[in-house]
Amino acid sequence: MSSDPSSLRTVDWKNNKVVMIDQTKLPNELVFVEFDDYNQVADAIRTLVVRGAPAIGVSGAFGLALAVLQSNATTKDELISDLENAKKILFETRPTAVNLAWGLEKIMIVAKSRDSVEQIREQVISEAKKMADEDIEINKTMGKNGSILFDDNDTIMTHCNAGALATVAYGTALGVIRATKESGKNVKVIATETRPIQQGSRLTAFELKHDGFDVSLIPDTAVGYSMANGLVNKVIVGADRIVKTGHVFNKIGTYQVATMAKQHGIPFYVAAPLSTIDMESNAEDVIIEMRKGSEVTGIGDKKTAPDKINVINPAFDMTPPELISGIITEKGIAKPPYEESIKKLFEN
Ligand code: MRU
Repeated sequence: MSSDPSSLRTVDWKNNKVVMIDQTKLPNELVFVEFDDYNQVADAIRTLVVRGAPAIGVSGAFGLALAVLQSNATTKDELISDLENAKKILFETRPTAVNLAWGLEKIMIVAKSRDSVEQIREQVISEAKKMADEDIEINKTMGKNGSILFDDNDTIMTHCNAGALATVAYGTALGVIRATKESGKNVKVIATETRPIQQGSRLTAFELKHDGFDVSLIPDTAVGYSMANGLVNKVIVGADRIVKTGHVFNKIGTYQVATMAKQHGIPFYVAAPLSTIDMESNAEDVIIEMRKGSEVTGIGDKKTAPDKINVINPAFDMTPPELISGIITEKGIAKPPYEESIKKLFEN
């Protein structure tokens, strides 16, 4: 089995099963898991076997594709009711990334628009597969759009993993870095470790090193040092949800990186597909997922904190629009004021 993540899909549909890379095992082992039950997909999202906003959006859609196959319904109403149940279970896995709700809703619209049980089964599966293929194309377009913002010999900082492993393939923030390199510019990357789950060291450093990028890993605590000492020219991150005012919800620590970038006059960019933009919610409505304390009181199996210590472990934070130099999407780059520029992205 190939061990090259750039040639692999993070999530795929094969022989009526969902196939995923088990990201909890990276970087030590490249293991694929197969699911034929949507409840297993829900567990995989909850336990971070698959993670990253676009990847969980597509996984949710594939979960519903399994649900149409699992259902014994003989009428449209029965099948829609089974799908609604599956949707609820999949939706409740993680609250912050809007791509999950987007992917589930898109599939439900297709299901409801068909007349017979057979048509619904066929169309739900083909729509989920299409969504996965489109994710890769969108990332490539976004990459090209964003690459103009980066120069030859830039050193680009990124936080968390917004790469191939957070999408179906290619990546959002790392997709822009890939496209910049593909356009002939020589770029280096600094990846933050991204405690507590270490998506930066386990996933971004793994993915970029494997794909031949010049990547250096820093502890999260070295962001200020790196910027103050001229080691970074630009920053790019992904997003789990962007609201219409340009407030960006992304992995915990993003706000600190953006604040530091502002302090040092370093451009801070966000790359995300339109499926990450939530035009309905206000910033204060967005639920920040709180995760279990054991992620903070240990690293892997090793305990690094006293027993029974209180822990606060938010998985995401909000970066306000005034810290953001541009939001790169497949429809172009939104610049401040974001209320206007984000709205325009949906118009053309
Ligand atoms: O908790 P995770 O690993 O799912 O969080 C992922 C992130 O915060 C990513 O930066 C975000 O989803 C963008 S992925 C293209």
